[in-house]
Formats: sequence, structure tokens, C-alpha cells
Amino acid sequence: MFYYYGRKKQIAGHYPDPSYDVIIEPFAGSAAYSLHGNRWQKQVILVEKDPRVASLWEWLIHTATPQDIANLPDLMVGEKTSNFLHILHAATKMAFQYKTIKTTPVLARNWEISKRQMAANLYKVKHWTILCGDYSEAPNLEATWFIDPPYRYESGTGYQYSSHHLDYQKLAHWILQRQGEIICCEGQGGDYLPFQPLRMSKGVAGKASQELIFYHSLTAKVQLSLI
Ligand SMILES: C[S@@+](CC[C@H](N)C(=O)[O-])C[C@H]1O[C@@H](n2cnc3c(N)ncnc32)[C@H](O)[C@@H]1O
Repeated sequence: MFYYYGRKKQIAGHYPDPSYDVIIEPFAGSAAYSLHGNRWQKQVILVEKDPRVASLWEWLIHTATPQDIANLPDLMVGEKTSNFLHILHAATKMAFQYKTIKTTPVLARNWEISKRQMAANLYKVKHWTILCGDYSEAPNLEATWFIDPPYRYESGTGYQYSSHHLDYQKLAHWILQRQGEIICCEGQGGDYLPFQPLRMSKGVAGKASQELIFYHSLTAKVQLSLI
């Protein structure tokens, strides 16, 4: 929905389509999986621990109109900003550490494109639900669970609530107790579930990195094409 470090926008189509009427993303970020294709039409429940990200979703779901978004001012190169939504668009994994940033040409362009995209896609999320809290507070429903936590072996600078704050054994146990369909994402070296390679993808600095997936479904017979 908005530019976000670690978002799955480029590879959302490589994950299995949801088999259930409800999609739950307990590590919401910008929720690229649920926005891919027609998936947004399902009942989508997002859980996000970072209050700034959750508030952004609350605003998009409950308050914002396309006109409100279109009316947000453009950013001028060299201008300083402390707006969290701007900082997210700075295309850096350090974004979460900054309180104020100076607008670069990349940020000015990202912001302009993203404003248009957010305004155009806003209608898709108006029936969604956002809960601000820990993943473990997600409602225990039979659903398609798209689980995309901070990667276990990433540097830990990518998010306010990073890999350093997660107990991955506890997370694995919780994941395996989900009812319905489980799609879990990891990066290179991810080892707390029997992950398989999904594909290579370009990282933030254009560096290739391997995406891993753990897929489990009680009912659906999905042909997962692993690349
Ligand atoms: C890899 S990102 C998700 C990216 C998302 N799939 C997308 O496409 O934008 C992980 C997210 O989980 C959030 N998070 C970290 N720890 C959490 C926790 N314990 N419970 C819920 N959310 C958490 C982070 O703030 C971050 O937004």
C-alpha cells in the first residue's frame, strides 16, 4: 500500500493464492500479499506491533479519502521532513532509525509515485481490519495466514520491532498451531521451520538474496511452483 522496507510487492504473485475467505497478516507492514490481484476482496485482518505503522493503516482504513491523499504536499529536494510516512519512502532500511530526513531526489520521486498509488488503491482496504499489537494477539480463525516476520538473520536495523525482539522457537510453535493455510516467509539461512527456496530476489541495494517459504495447508491442494 505504501513503500515499506521488506515489503513483498515484487514477489507477491509467487506465493500461493489464498484458499480461505479470510486472510490474516500478523506481521502487516504494508500488506503487499493481500493487495496483490483480487486478494484484497477477501476479509483481510492485519496485525502490526509498531504503533506508527498501525496508525497509518487506521488512517487509511477508517479516515482517509483519495482526495486527502492527493492533497498531501509534494516533497522538494533538500527539504527536511519528520513525517513518518515520508521517512518510510526514503528507500532505506535505516528509515526506522531516523526522526528527521532530508529529501533526496529518490525520496521526492518515490513519494510522488506512492501518493498516486495510495489514492488509487485506497478503496481496496476500506473493509479491512487493523489491530495494533503482537502477532500472538491475532484472532484464532481458520484462514489463510500470510506470516512475514522480520527475517531471523537480518541485521536488525530494518524495523522498530526487529528480529532481535522475536523468539523464533516460540514463533515457530505458534505458526504450527494456526488453523487453515499457512504461508510463512524467511530469508537466507532461515531455519526455525523446514523452509524451501521460493526464488532469488533483488534486495534493497540490488543485491540478490534468497527468499524462502514454508507452506502448509490442512485442506487446499496447491501446486506451488518453486523456482
Ligand atoms: C517483513 S515486515 C512485513 C512486510 C509486509 N509483508 C509487506 O509486504 O510490507 C515485518 C513487519 O512485522 C512487524 N513486527 C515485528 N515484530 C512484530 C510482532 N511481534 N508482532 C506484530 N508485528 C511485528 C514489523 O514492524 C514489520 O512491519
